[in-house]
Amino acid sequence: MIADECKKIKNNFIDEIKNCSEAKCLSDIKIRYLGRKGIVSSLFKSISSLTQEERKTGGRELNLLKEHIEKTVREKESELRQKVSPASFFDPTLTGEKTDIPGNHPLKAVMNSIIYIFTAMGFGIAYGPEIEENYYNFTALNFPENHPARDMHDTLYLKEKDTLLRTHTSPVQIRTMEKHAPPYKFIAPGKCYRRDTIDASHSPVFHQVEGFMVDRDISFADLKGVLDEFARRIFEGSQDIKTRFRPSFFPFTEPSAEMDIMCSICRGKGCSSCSGKGWLEILGAGMVDPEVFRYCKVDPDKWQGFAFGMGVERIAMLKYGISDMRLFFQNDLRFLRQF
Ligand code: PHE
Repeated sequence: MIADECKKIKNNFIDEIKNCSEAKCLSDIKIRYLGRKGIVSSLFKSISSLTQEERKTGGRELNLLKEHIEKTVREKESELRQKVSPASFFDPTLTGEKTDIPGNHPLKAVMNSIIYIFTAMGFGIAYGPEIEENYYNFTALNFPENHPARDMHDTLYLKEKDTLLRTHTSPVQIRTMEKHAPPYKFIAPGKCYRRDTIDASHSPVFHQVEGFMVDRDISFADLKGVLDEFARRIFEGSQDIKTRFRPSFFPFTEPSAEMDIMCSICRGKGCSSCSGKGWLEILGAGMVDPEVFRYCKVDPDKWQGFAFGMGVERIAMLKYGISDMRLFFQNDLRFLRQF
């Protein structure tokens, strides 16, 4: 009797599970057959009303049926799991797989070293937005209205009027002076954007660290001292690194200079990494122009100081002897594993 019943249930179950192709349907079947008030357990309950003999064989049949259903459900579950996309079968309770991704990106490592060196010299850290206003990126930094750097060629403008992706970290100078009274001594690390074509030494996204130090009595000699000390520390351990200062121009500093480091790839001979020059420019710097102070309502008769802005990619290339800036952004594990 009970054997017949089991057979009928088994056949029904086989039919149903055959037609089941998704998790919801499988879970319904599981509840209906194996749930606390399901078909199998109510059959087990009905056993008590049978004779001793019937109970023996019936019990065995029922156990076999239960095992069969459980096993088939398990198999179906794993079959469906393999079919389902990882997004819809995401189990947040599973422990993560150990990945083989290296810990420190060379740019991050160099950025951290730069921050470490300057904070050890007593510089604080300031941050500013990557989406910037024309005023902070250009106007308050004393860029004349028709300055070529404002040109579409260099700047990535956004749809909203007067907003752009900052082309340098210098706007953080202005934002900080607007918020705080002098003196100042901080660095401002971050991402910058320019409409540059990617090549071995240019990228439309790059990193800079701005430096700003203003007090009653800060001179160009202080600027040179700080930057020389920085170069000595960041290239510590690399073979004798040579630096040079060249006069330059920036609308927001006067006088202005650029610091070059001898190309570590060609040792000054000229190669594709340094565009044949033998030297790589790593930073621009100068004494803060009084006009910039005036924009920020800081009295230029009382306060003076220097600013600099360095390119993190260039420094990382020199430090590690990397010949092509594109390597930083390609995520090639063979490259990244070396750091
Ligand atoms: N902002 C300049 C640039 O991106 C660098 C710079 C910073 C120059 C501070 C002078 C002072 O080229």
